This record gives sequence, C-alpha cells and structure tokens, in this order.
Amino acid sequence: MPDLLSDLSAIVGPDHVITGADLAARATSWSDPAPLQGLALVRPQHTGEVAAVLARCHATHQPVITYGGGTNLVRATASTGADLLLSLERMAAVTAVDAANRTLTVQAGAPLQRVQEAASAHDLFFPLDLAARGTATIGGCIAMNAGGVRVLRYGVMRDLVLGLETVLADGTVLTSLNQMLKNNAGYDLKQLFIGSEGTLGVVTQAVLRLFPAPRTRSTALLAATAFDQVVALLTQLQRDLGGALASFEVMWNDYYRLTTTPPAPARPPLGQGFAYYVLVETLGGDEESDEGRFAHVLERAADAGLFADGVVAASAAQRDELWRVREDSEQIERQHHLTFGYDVSLPIAAMEGYVAAVRGGLATAFGPAVRCWVYGHLGDGNLHVNLWAPALQPEDAARAAAIVYAPLPTLHGSISAEHGIGLEKKDYLALSRTPAEIATMRLLKRALDPHAVLNPGKVFGMHG
Ligand code: LAC
Ligand code: ZN
Repeated sequence: MPDLLSDLSAIVGPDHVITGADLAARATSWSDPAPLQGLALVRPQHTGEVAAVLARCHATHQPVITYGGGTNLVRATASTGADLLLSLERMAAVTAVDAANRTLTVQAGAPLQRVQEAASAHDLFFPLDLAARGTATIGGCIAMNAGGVRVLRYGVMRDLVLGLETVLADGTVLTSLNQMLKNNAGYDLKQLFIGSEGTLGVVTQAVLRLFPAPRTRSTALLAATAFDQVVALLTQLQRDLGGALASFEVMWNDYYRLTTTPPAPARPPLGQGFAYYVLVETLGGDEESDEGRFAHVLERAADAGLFADGVVAASAAQRDELWRVREDSEQIERQHHLTFGYDVSLPIAAMEGYVAAVRGGLATAFGPAVRCWVYGHLGDGNLHVNLWAPALQPEDAARAAAIVYAPLPTLHGSISAEHGIGLEKKDYLALSRTPAEIATMRLLKRALDPHAVLNPGKVFGMHG
C-alpha cells in the first residue's frame, strides 16, 4: 500500500493525499457523522491528474470511489478502509458561460448552487434545484441523475447536460464537451455516465444547458381535502398556466404537521387539518401580468372546488417560508431515530390507493404506532415515503421495503424515481428492471471497467 500512496503523492502532491486523522475528521456523509472510511482521499487538480490516478488504480485493481458532496440518500459512496476515495473538490470552477448559446461549462466538483449563481450573474438560469444545493456537487448530480423540484418543467439532470468530459477506468479521457442542442453524430456516449452512480467513469467537466432567467416567480401553498382535488388541480394548473408551472409539490398531512410543528422551525402557513398540501410555483417572463394571471388561475381553481384553503407568498421571505415547509425533510431523521426512506415512481392516479395500501401494510407489520410521512414531486409521479415505528430495528429493513415496493411492479412504477440505487436499493433493482436490462448493465460495466475498480458493488452485483 505504501507504493500506492507514494505513487498518488507523486501525481497530485503529498498535500492532496489525505490519510489518518485528517481523513477521519471528515464525516461519512451528510446524514452519517461517523469518520469517513478509506485508504486515503486523493484530491487531483485537473483532468490529467484524475486520469493518472485512475490509470494507477486500474493497473493494480485498486477500488476507487468518487466522493462528491456526500448528500446522496442511497449510500452510493459507502466505502471501507480498502477503498481509495477520489474527491474533485479542487476542480470546482465554472470555466465558461456562453450567453448567446445558453451554455455553461463547469468542473465536476462545483456545488450546484455555484452553477445556479453563475448563470444568474449572466441573467440566465440553471433550473435544477434541490434542498442540498449548497453541498451537492454537479458531478454528483450528474452521476446520480438528480431530479428535484423543477423537473415538471425543465426535466431531470439528464435533460440539462449537453456535454461531458469523463475519465474512464483505465485513465482514458473521453472528451464529449458538446455544446449543441442537437448532435446525432453517432452514439451519445455521455448518456452512459449520467445516472451510472460512478460505476462507469468519473465525470470531470460538463457543459450544461441554460435558460432565460425568469422575471417573475409566483408561489402558493394550497390545501385540499381529497386526493381527486389534487389530481384535478394539477391538470387545471398545467392547462391554465400555459407551461409556466415549474413545481407541483405535495405533502400528505403527516409530513406537513411534522415540518410545521416545534421543534421544526417553520410555523404552519395554513391550518394543520387538511389531508393534502400543494406547493405550486410558476416562473414567468412578464412582470406586468404574471402575478395577476397567477391569482386569476388560482381563483378559477378555487371556484371549481379544487382546493379548500390557500396562501400566496407576498414577498421573497414568505416564499422561502413556504419552501421551508416542503424542504425540511431533515426533521424526519432529526426527530426520530432509525427511519427508513423510499423514493418511488408510480402513476398519479394510483397514488391514493398506493399510500393507503402501504400505510395498512406497515401498521400490520409494525403496529398501529407506525409513523409514515409521504411527500414529494407529485407532478413528476414521484413520492417520498419515510417511516418510523417505536420498535423498528435495522433488520426490519427488508420487511418494510417489501411492503413499500410490493404494489410497484404491477403499477409499472419504479423503486427509485430520483435518488438512485447505491447500496441501499441494490437488492430491489430487479423489481424495476428486467433480467435482460440488468444483464446489459453488467455487459457495459465489464466493457468499461474490466477490473471493477469504479465504485464496485454499487447499483448491482456482477453475478446473479
Ligand atoms: C426531497 C428529497 C428527499 O425531495 O429528494 O426532499
Ligand atoms: Zn425529492
């Protein structure tokens, strides 16, 4: 091992091979304060150094885990003391913004928020957004194909990446820094790496798609008493707002209560007695008329009986308060020890029945005191389900997952809408992918990473 560490020091400089107490001072992840496990953490400064590190590891079959912001929710960067950790924290610059072409070029270690701000500085807009924006890296968002709160209008990360520079397992630098919206010159290789969770290559740079900066932002929290109202509300708002609807986030009553009751910092903007709460937001281009149109469309929805109560944010501070109610999912783990979390996709029309079946199954399995918080990106067909019960044990994970996942194959849903698979959901991949799909994933893994050095063991096993 000293050989490896001295070779790495020769590549990146001794100050950038972190070991011992300096490594242990870093947390495992956002949600796990235990010391980060690894042989060392190496911090290259440019793509050439990344390539040299990977070539070195490929030659001796040394496992490498690319570590971004540590905010993924599926143990996608879980490591042991035998793994080398690769951090792109020194490769975090926005290197170009092309205003006319509406593209931004960025190194993979940049936090998402830096990209959003760089776009804003040019009166442009990078739409991907999620609560961990200050910590999650662009490379991590690409590796995990992140979703977030504006997918309804702008799509997932995959829809926002035009080009990538990726280093393959053997150190080959694959430069596909395409800037064009349209490029059908053969295979679109970048797609292989988006959502591959660091198992097929290391993303070092990306060209991202930008949009005109919105001039207006209108936000409301609406409360509904029946699920049918929520579904009809989505349909009507999408139609009446003519494409301006960017977010349609729904919270079931339990979640809303949790994030608006002390010790959570937010106060309830609406009474806590409604079955469903919908956070809607539009982004528009007309300062004169957007606000009035938003109010008018909401009025029409109220007249049609599609919500029972509502509040429109009158200031940026109020808007932030409404968003805090939705984004403060941290309260689940803060307030309850040992919770299980899921991130499922299913048809919107099936959601009410699905949630009832899951709640019933969980109460039977874990007793009537089981708590189940449901919230998420309803407009995208994506729900987050978190649960806790007084006597829940780590070994209950499989039993709980079986209940949450059981209805999904028949509904043609997915066990992972946006969080990915990592280690946490690996055993369940076959519920959402066919044997032929998984075999093809293995084929690609063998072709691109024959010595299985890149994030080995994540997403799927090589046999099975
Ligand atoms: C959210 C994360 C958990 O939507 O995906 O809050
Ligand atoms: Zn989410």
